[in-house]
Amino acid sequence: MSTPSRRLGVNIDHVATLRQARMSPYPEPVLAALLAEHAGAGQITCHIRCDRRHVNERDIRLLRETIKTQLNVECAATDEMVSIMEALRPHRVTLVPERPEEVTTEGGLDLTRPATLAEVKAAAARLVAAGIRVSLFIDPADEQVRIAGQLDGVDMIELNTAHYAEGHPEDLARLTRACVVGQGLDLEIAAGHGLTHHNLPDLVKAVPEIVEYNIGHSIISRAVFVGLDRAVRDILAIILQS
Ligand code: PXP
Repeated sequence: MSTPSRRLGVNIDHVATLRQARMSPYPEPVLAALLAEHAGAGQITCHIRCDRRHVNERDIRLLRETIKTQLNVECAATDEMVSIMEALRPHRVTLVPERPEEVTTEGGLDLTRPATLAEVKAAAARLVAAGIRVSLFIDPADEQVRIAGQLDGVDMIELNTAHYAEGHPEDLARLTRACVVGQGLDLEIAAGHGLTHHNLPDLVKAVPEIVEYNIGHSIISRAVFVGLDRAVRDILAIILQS
């Protein structure tokens, strides 16, 4: 079955990681974004972290000015990050949890935690007032999806696929269930984290409710060997044909 309404968000963080490894002016994440779009990406995704270990404000400003699809920026629900988003105005912000010492995002937002919920609500209100769409990165658990669906201004969730990607095919049932709950609450459903051309086909087949995939590390890694154009096209073929 071909489902052209599905889209691929290519996360270009790790092009910036390579740049920051040497503090060099290259490789240019904006060029990667334009090549990814040329190969069929429907969205460019990046994560501005509090320590700026890869993407920074300059990258987001240039991405916003140059890309032709849409820009989805992942960030923590902090006052600093929300202020940056209000100034740079990406099309969408995906709120994620962030711990300074983590290598990559570990788990979704825990919306059952009152402090997290309060931060997310405050951030979402400001982002929506600035005309920015808001998505929440959460684990595929009914309770998390239900809370997300009740929040003003939140009409999208991104389900964390890290556990599935680490070799837990039983998570496909959790992901399906989370999608059913989310669709019942009129949430648009994205997924991401740890996805590769090896684990993606089963996910796309088993959970057709997912309309957007945000994939970074595996695409940029594979691009080192086969080129970015082919790395993006191969992933896109899985998303559109499964
Ligand atoms: N979605 C979210 C919310 C993320 O935090 C990340 C990692 O920055 C991704 C998707 C992409 O994950 P990966 O680089 O493992 O494909």
